[in-house]
Amino acid sequence: MSRTTLSRYLIEQTRSHDTPADLRFLVEVVARACKAISHAVSKGALGGVLGSMETENVQGEVQKKLDVMSNEILLEANEWGGTLAGMASEEMDKPYQIPGRFPKGAYLLMFDPLDGSSNIDVNVSVGTIFSVLRCPGECFSQNDALGEDAFLQPGTQQVAAGYAIYGPQTMLVLTLGNGVKGFTLDRELGSFVLTHENIRVPESTAEFAINMSNQRHWEAPVKRYVEELLAGETGPLEKNYNMRWIASMVADVHRILTRGGIFMYPRDAREPSKPGKLRLMYEANPMSMLIEQAGGAATNGTQRIMDIQPQSLHERVAVFLGSKQEVERVTAYHKA
Ligand code: AHG
Ligand code: MN
Ligand code: MN
Repeated sequence: MSRTTLSRYLIEQTRSHDTPADLRFLVEVVARACKAISHAVSKGALGGVLGSMETENVQGEVQKKLDVMSNEILLEANEWGGTLAGMASEEMDKPYQIPGRFPKGAYLLMFDPLDGSSNIDVNVSVGTIFSVLRCPGECFSQNDALGEDAFLQPGTQQVAAGYAIYGPQTMLVLTLGNGVKGFTLDRELGSFVLTHENIRVPESTAEFAINMSNQRHWEAPVKRYVEELLAGETGPLEKNYNMRWIASMVADVHRILTRGGIFMYPRDAREPSKPGKLRLMYEANPMSMLIEQAGGAATNGTQRIMDIQPQSLHERVAVFLGSKQEVERVTAYHKA
């Protein structure tokens, strides 16, 4: 049986959808870095990779060793290939400049190097999320340092988005803007192999994901919606819902891409100045592109996430994504 590896899929995309060769190379390199991260994650205590550093990232979160290692793996893999004008990451305050000794390219890469870091030490799935934008204008040909402004483009401008999930299997889930494909890492072969040809989110669902411990801090529309979900078949929605919360967005979104559901991380009253916990540029936007490409929807409660004009690199956003009917319902409650 001939198997479609990621490399072969990308070459076919170049033929059928004019995917530029440099974008193809960029995705290959990100995938290679994800293989290295997968390897490090899977070693666990044997590799001495568990536990925390003594540092905090720009968001004031304690960094895990694997947060820092994954960030370094992605930077080192991607800095020399000539496809990028710069990178930005959850773990770095400012954009990463491509060192002067390497060529620059037309794209910008953003990532959450290790998503779900609270799950590392308890052996639960974690992942890497990435988003690719074009560098506006001729910014890659300029000698000046690349500023934050180049990255501040709405999610609709993404040319590729995806994640790797490090779970029972390591998978890469990818969109180049024409559907969503899933690749499973064949460890003997060392390649990602196409195993999920056409990932679609079912339109309706009976499963939801939210951190219920924050219930008392939510805004009224979210309280109303979740109360209705919990009321089950005796409530206005007239069916019973199941709940799952893994606390790794990658794993929760992967489940939704597999069997449907709605994922919510609303803004809440704990930190009123912040519109939610998740980050727009390297969590919400790439996941929204995947979900929309799979036939689902993604909003911040009032507006499509991918239409938001970002104001800063580490901006936060409320997230409602997944099966269309449910996302539309909770979004409508915000407008009621
Ligand atoms: P990160 O590990 O990159 O900081 O992201 C964690 C995020 C996301 O993956 C998850 O959905 C959410 O935080 C979980 O938050 P709670 O711990 O508040 O449930
Ligand atoms: Mn994250
Ligand atoms: Mn992270």
